[in-house]
Amino acid sequence: MLTHLAVIMDGNGRWAQRRGLPRAMGHREGVEALRRLVRLCPKYEIRYLTVYAFSTENWKRPEAEIQTLMLLIHEFLDRELIVLKEQGVRIRILGDIGPLQPALREKIKNAVSTTAGLEKLHLSVALNYGGRQELLRSAKALAKRALKGENPDDWREEDFAGELYTGDLPEPDLLIRTGGDTRISNFLLWQIAYTEFWSTETYWPDFGEKELAEAMTAFTNRQRRYGGV
Ligand code: IPE
Ligand code: IPE
Ligand code: MG
Repeated sequence: MLTHLAVIMDGNGRWAQRRGLPRAMGHREGVEALRRLVRLCPKYEIRYLTVYAFSTENWKRPEAEIQTLMLLIHEFLDRELIVLKEQGVRIRILGDIGPLQPALREKIKNAVSTTAGLEKLHLSVALNYGGRQELLRSAKALAKRALKGENPDDWREEDFAGELYTGDLPEPDLLIRTGGDTRISNFLLWQIAYTEFWSTETYWPDFGEKELAEAMTAFTNRQRRYGGV
């Protein structure tokens, strides 16, 4: 059973460059690929979809590209929120939206709160997200609890996991990375301890049902042992 799918949506820039287009066009097509995937999830009985949209390291990119990405998120919410609601999609954000522009922050908060009761698909968008930043944040939250009198010796892995952005989500079953690289790039470091990993050369804007079905088949043929025999 594949309950939770996580995706590192990579290769937008190279998709565009290969066509002689500006990188922004690749990001625009990348949004279309995300819309497609959201619509495919019910068919494949995927209940949780977590996508990497912007990492804490992506601030290193040129200002214009960052602006494009933020604008696309803005547009995505303007255009898709009604449809997402109809589809029963609950939106969560993993990451710190504090540094985003106030107008975008408000739009995001509204999307999160107005979809909070929905549960056909749990869509989590990692936005200004970094795995190490998330681990540090969890450690800080526990340290504060200790200062309030809790005994750290009583804590178990669940206590640490509960302070992550993903505190109320199951762990991913499958992690897909598009764009041909086989690295994690600071995504979900804690949560993917036993996640199956599948990578494809396909650039994210070209990712569609064919690739999803291929990944699902590969996943089904894996034997997950969790350290057992
Ligand atoms: C992924 O595509 C989108 C983000 C990281 C925001 P890239 O922009 O990283 O595309 P490539 O890897 O340069 O082709
Ligand atoms: C990972 O892609 C981040 C997102 C998909 C948002 P990057 O393109 O930023 O990763 P690196 O730089 O190739 O590791
Ligand atoms: Mg990339």
